[in-house]
Amino acid sequence: MAMRARLGRLWDGSEERNTSSETKGKSGSPGPKRFPIRMIVAVLVALFVLVYFYSSGTSFSRSERGVDSQSLIERNSKAQSVPTTTITQPSEVQSSPSVTTQPSEAQSIPTATAAAAVTEPSEVESSPSTQPSKAQAVPIKLNCPNEAAPVCQRSSSLASTLSLKTPQLSPTCPEYFRWIHEDLRPWKYDGITKELIESAKSLATFRLVVLDGRVYVEEYFGHSMARNVFTLWGIIQLINRYPGRVPDLDLMFNCMDQPSVKSAQYSPSTLPPVFHYCKDDQTSDILFPDWSFWGWPDTNIQPWAPLMEEMKQANEEMKWVDREPYAFWKGNPTMGANRQELLQCNVTREQDWNGRIYTQDWSREEEQGYQSSNLAKQCNYRYRIYVDGLAWSVSQKYVMACDSPTLFIDTPWYEFFQRGLMPGHHYWPIPANDKCKAIKFAVDWGNKHHKEAQAMGKASFKFFEEEVKMDYVYDYMLHVLTDYAELLRYKPTVPEKATEICLESMACPAQDNVKKFMLESMEKSTGVSEPCKLPPPFAPEELRQLNDKKADAVRQAISWHQNARAERRRKF
Ligand SMILES: *[C@@H]1O[C@H](CO)[C@@H](O)[C@H](O)[C@H]1NC(C)=O
Repeated sequence: MAMRARLGRLWDGSEERNTSSETKGKSGSPGPKRFPIRMIVAVLVALFVLVYFYSSGTSFSRSERGVDSQSLIERNSKAQSVPTTTITQPSEVQSSPSVTTQPSEAQSIPTATAAAAVTEPSEVESSPSTQPSKAQAVPIKLNCPNEAAPVCQRSSSLASTLSLKTPQLSPTCPEYFRWIHEDLRPWKYDGITKELIESAKSLATFRLVVLDGRVYVEEYFGHSMARNVFTLWGIIQLINRYPGRVPDLDLMFNCMDQPSVKSAQYSPSTLPPVFHYCKDDQTSDILFPDWSFWGWPDTNIQPWAPLMEEMKQANEEMKWVDREPYAFWKGNPTMGANRQELLQCNVTREQDWNGRIYTQDWSREEEQGYQSSNLAKQCNYRYRIYVDGLAWSVSQKYVMACDSPTLFIDTPWYEFFQRGLMPGHHYWPIPANDKCKAIKFAVDWGNKHHKEAQAMGKASFKFFEEEVKMDYVYDYMLHVLTDYAELLRYKPTVPEKATEICLESMACPAQDNVKKFMLESMEKSTGVSEPCKLPPPFAPEELRQLNDKKADAVRQAISWHQNARAERRRKF
């Protein structure tokens, strides 16, 4: 029951609203006044499409599943007969809630429209990390024939278009991918049986089965909660992005705040495999990217890719030296002891710890349209503070993607990418038991050593821009799922109470911010890039050295500020 209670508490403490708040927001639905604009856009889209078909001779066939799964050969042979049915009929364009129709979306996220997909399939992807394989690129379209939630349809050709083997030509994934091997190590020799999976049921929010590229879910609780919905949405995008590559699998997923597999409570043969967003050294959860990469409607946090673009702009807009020379934090202080203590580091009339600490009031934010919680606008301080919540905090990537250095309050929790960060290089470690003094020291030091401080801020920004971009988020998911599936000792089957989900079943009935974020974070094309190549496991010695190096860097920073204080006392 404690688990259920935690359901409600999200990062920075927005009380979890019930489902209705997800489905009845204020933004999103374009009013009738936009009708003329819509018409114009519809006509433009139609023109665009016609010109394209005329020039290329390819067609967009309308697959039942919305995911256009036919191979190019198939499509070419059917050329030119289909397009008029989908795009040029004005009545359909207006009534269907599909991506082609919303003018606002068409402007702000051009790739979400059919018009953009029409341009050059190989260019659809905004940041292709790896090699684009032009021959395989197939646009993905969302078709919502009626307002109702469509039934997911079988798409038989989906699996056959690509080989399951990752080609050797792809570049190697970032270093932190090597932790995938560590997360799965407990099951490496004996594998995972169906009984073992089922023993994990009480720890899981949902069970997910992938069979032949189709996705089935049995939700145990938290039904329709944003974190469940957007985690599943991410998995659907992965499957659409890499058709045929996500193997058959059966897994348990925990969407709560805290990891659930307490290693000490199990023997090696009873340790249940559970996917989750974070872990500490006492838990054996298998790490997976959290839902916020696809957006978090409850807190109006948009999907990672467009948000990162805004961050980049915000970084460029204000030079580091022109930013407020203090350490900024804003959030809900009731989430965990560390946050309570952090309040002590705020500036008062008597004492300035160089902290500028603010509380986030989500209900007020919601009323005011989230004006003051704009994450990109929070980059105008020279230093940012990261502090954990009840477990990991979704805020970490938003804090660290500013190119102001992060003062990182020590935490036992880590999420998947965090294992690639090096204290002293990507962030300034702050001991949890001496926060205020350490913050004061770090800020004073940075204000006297601009070059070093800026280098640290740049290093963390670069890490997120390059190594935690969506391409790699998907690749991480693909690799951990692929390696996990290899451990299964049985052929997965659809659980009795499971329902199938797909692009249409999720996006067509969605509304407001949920819909907006889904359209923004929807994969627009298959086969745009090859997944990166998984680097090998750490050798035991390598792992030990890496951990030592991190611990040393933390110790060094701590002794530094302690010595500096001792020094000051001596002078005094
Ligand atoms: C921290 O101090 C600032 C400046 O006095 C104030 O505006 C802010 O409300 C304080 N924050 C908290 C959480 O009390």
